Amino acid sequence: MLFPEGVAIDGRSGAVTPETGRYVKRLSELRGLYQDDESLQRALAGGDDPVVYEVIEYRKPESDICFGTTIMQPGKVGDEYYLTRGHFHRRPECGEAYYTQSGEGVLLLDSRDGQSSVVEMRPGVCAFIPPEWAHRSINTGREPLVFVWFCATDAGHDYAEIGARGMRKLVLERDGARTIIDNPSYAS
Ligand code: PA5
Ligand code: NI
Repeated sequence: MLFPEGVAIDGRSGAVTPETGRYVKRLSELRGLYQDDESLQRALAGGDDPVVYEVIEYRKPESDICFGTTIMQPGKVGDEYYLTRGHFHRRPECGEAYYTQSGEGVLLLDSRDGQSSVVEMRPGVCAFIPPEWAHRSINTGREPLVFVWFCATDAGHDYAEIGARGMRKLVLERDGARTIIDNPSYAS
């Protein structure tokens, strides 16, 4: 039987104590997800492979719920802000919540029935992600974007569809300002 415990979450650093696992995504692992592939190749050409985001988990396979943090670094590829891969959940009935702790960004969502939505990510806002909505977070600020996520332990991640089609919207910096446009290469 599992035993209850208090898990400390640092809203600035995203540290989870105790944690059960973590992983890092570097720019080279996000090839094909940015609209401007030349800028991505150029960014990697110098030999640097910056961390774009890190995920820290508190996940107990014997429990139905889990949570953790995502820490997104600020940055851009060309004029497109740093993004997560984006996914649907494998189990179609599973939603999720993203509770922003620090930094600023946007959460892009695409539904299976053709809608799209944008939820602001800023401290104090807890985004509700309904089942059957793909979700991708984007750091549009100059500081790390840190949020806590909560979902079903076995929700699962399906990256194939977003990896192949992209998302319906792009978040770009234009003339120094955040701009959200329709993705010209979205494969409907
Ligand atoms: O479960 C979630 O939605 C998050 O923990 C994400 O997995 C995390 O933010 C990283 O994004 P992605 O899995 O799309 O790379
Ligand atoms: Ni998710």
